Amino acid sequence: MNDETLMNSIKINSKNTNETKKIGKIIGKAIKAGDIIILKGEMGTGKTTLTQGIGDALEVKSVVNSPTFILLAKHEQARIPLYHADLFRLSDYKGSIELDLTEEAHDGVLVIEWPEIAEEILPVERLEIEFYYAQNEDERIIKITDKYAKYEKLIKEINNIQK
Ligand SMILES: Nc1ncnc2c1ncn2[C@@H]1O[C@H](COP(=O)(O)OP(=O)(O)OP(=O)(O)O)[C@@H](O)[C@H]1O
Ligand SMILES: [Mg+2]
Repeated sequence: MNDETLMNSIKINSKNTNETKKIGKIIGKAIKAGDIIILKGEMGTGKTTLTQGIGDALEVKSVVNSPTFILLAKHEQARIPLYHADLFRLSDYKGSIELDLTEEAHDGVLVIEWPEIAEEILPVERLEIEFYYAQNEDERIIKITDKYAKYEKLIKEINNIQK
């Protein structure tokens, strides 16, 4: 079986900020400690917004916002801790990043914005989410890929809210 046959992905249309948060909340309810989620997409497409929804579902007590200047925001007061990374500004110390992040986040959920710089060294078993601008100003296409069929129930659930 090649990767293609295992691939399970879904595209959702989000009409506004709140819908993206809601999708994040559904994802947050389905994930567990140790899970890794990577978020790809141009600036302003909603990666942090979705992470706020995930944070809600994990019952994070601190405010989830853009961690651009701190690399890793730790929200440890929660039902499940949320570790929110933004690798946008990362350029050189790539070698140690996987170790650091996955180690730091082992007891919680690790969400990574701008994972591209470290992509090949991040664990492969992860939920991948891509964000795209769409026709209207507040519209986004959100593509969720569950390459290892670890989140079938979640994909189905999201499929259902679309109908
Ligand atoms: N459908 C939508 N989904 C998500 N955000 C939306 C949507 N429509 C409008 N927005 C707005 O777009 C902005 C998205 O910002 P956000 O910080 O989540 O993007 P980002 O992908 O994390 O950007 P960056 O790459 O700079 O970190 C917010 O101001 C949000 O209110
Ligand atoms: Mg962001």
